[in-house]
Amino acid sequence: MDLEKLLADRLAQAFSVVAGGPVDPVVRRSQHADYQSDAALSLARRLGRPPREIATEVLGQAELADLCSAVEVSGPGFINLTVADPALGALLSRMAVDTRLGVAVSAAAETVVIDYSAPNVAKEMHVGHLRSTVIGDAAVRLLEWLGHRVIKANHLGDWGTPFGMLIEHLLDLGESEAAHELSVGDLDSFYKAARVKFDTDDAFKERARRRVVALQSGDELTLRLWRLLVAESEEYFLTVYDQLGVLLTEEDFHGESYYNDMLAPVTDELDRLGLLRDSGDAACVFPEGFTGRDGQPLPIIVRKRDGGYGYGATDLAAIRHRTRDLGATRLLYVVGLPQRQHFEMVYAVARQAGWLTPPAKAEHIGFGSILGSDGKMLRSRAGGSIKLVGLLDEAVTRAAELARQKNPDLPEATVADVARAVGIGAIKYADLSTDRIKDYVFDWQRMLALDGNTAPYLQYAHARIRSIFRRAGIEQFTATPISIVHPAEHALALELAAFGTVVTGVEQNLEFHRLAGYLHTLAATFSGFYEHCPVLRAEGEVRDSRLALCDLTARVLHQGLYLLGIAAPDRM
Ligand code: ARG
Repeated sequence: MDLEKLLADRLAQAFSVVAGGPVDPVVRRSQHADYQSDAALSLARRLGRPPREIATEVLGQAELADLCSAVEVSGPGFINLTVADPALGALLSRMAVDTRLGVAVSAAAETVVIDYSAPNVAKEMHVGHLRSTVIGDAAVRLLEWLGHRVIKANHLGDWGTPFGMLIEHLLDLGESEAAHELSVGDLDSFYKAARVKFDTDDAFKERARRRVVALQSGDELTLRLWRLLVAESEEYFLTVYDQLGVLLTEEDFHGESYYNDMLAPVTDELDRLGLLRDSGDAACVFPEGFTGRDGQPLPIIVRKRDGGYGYGATDLAAIRHRTRDLGATRLLYVVGLPQRQHFEMVYAVARQAGWLTPPAKAEHIGFGSILGSDGKMLRSRAGGSIKLVGLLDEAVTRAAELARQKNPDLPEATVADVARAVGIGAIKYADLSTDRIKDYVFDWQRMLALDGNTAPYLQYAHARIRSIFRRAGIEQFTATPISIVHPAEHALALELAAFGTVVTGVEQNLEFHRLAGYLHTLAATFSGFYEHCPVLRAEGEVRDSRLALCDLTARVLHQGLYLLGIAAPDRM
């Protein structure tokens, strides 16, 4: 069903005859034709023959008559392909009756662990956690849709030295007061107050230190207070997830504490493998190939002298658990770029230890920062970290105003739904539509604009198509055969046919901006089609075929937005 793959397969056969061995024909969409292959150019160097001659010979060999209406060699040796309208029509007619929109489930389904969101207990979620949550959620949706077994791992920061001071602060406040502060989501002031005492009050510091020891040795009272802190924070994080409309649930909390019992065995195993070194203060592993600025090997601290384990040790236990116990062959870590080296080191140790052997592989799905309009890290007006709940509320409020302006007849109950879809969708889309490796500027005007590469633009495009069916009095559209005649139909059909290619590309690289960009082009191409090709005013088979194109476009937009975690209301 994948048009690009179909064309590539045919060209690959022809190329292999000409080259006397397999060649990747590198077929891509192009400005100059529907599709283009530039493989003759690199092959020419290899064979020492003129590229145009090779391209011409390939076209002589290739069986493309049923798929293409025109094939030609252009420029230095490009092969230009124009897809035939009847072939496009047949392809889209099949796509229209397929609930999966022509996108097959993966033939090589994997168990994938996605490590994402991962805020820290008794600390406000910051915008970095927002990015991780939004990108991770899209990854879950897309990989699940393609048939993979996806395990969501919310690697909560719920263990370690900060809990000494947090628990002591909780005791100072009294349990009920502390619980109140935490339940209203005032996590930052709780954390900061504890921190200030820790930094300025030596007696408090000593209490905190002893409390960590008590926690690590399993003291009942300490554990109970720790659980209270964790439970209140989890409750709060769940309200944020709910507001965001992401798939994370209570079951997905697998915080650092989850790996506690595995830390000692992991350390022993590292020791047995001869990978553990005593560096005075701690037992460490030094993965090959990592050195600091001073040229000295860089360590992952496994166990500190006081017996406590580090962040790195937990990640080593987690990776071993994920491949060994969960049987995962693909591990994704959706964490900001500053932690890239940490993960590279964890993977290196895991490989040395035999916990990450092919086909299992680990990938850091890194991302840049969200910046304010001043180009600096996004902060609240007071300079502190932004409260996520406030940000999300503001998005919904702004979107409600927009919805009322755009359509004053919309019933208030619908306004609320639309506002949530648009407001939250705008925030997610602003994130997912930029190359995740880059920083981006948080800009209400831009993300809520009704034109441009935004969620509202796509959502309105979708709702507008649905309104065509309402106007026609069609409640449930049953797909009819599609025939492509007009150039604007041809252009739209080409876009629709590319959906699967785009989705399977993102399955590999998790570059969601490519899916976003695709949906934006699709919506824009649809506008062109709708401008040039009357739908409801057309008659008979032409009308049916165009309605089928409309329906298919709406379904692709809906599914594409779903994969990005964005709702697409039928009416706006
Ligand atoms: N809690 C960490 C933070 O806020 C992120 C954890 C990422 N996941 C991991 N397996 N280390 O920075």
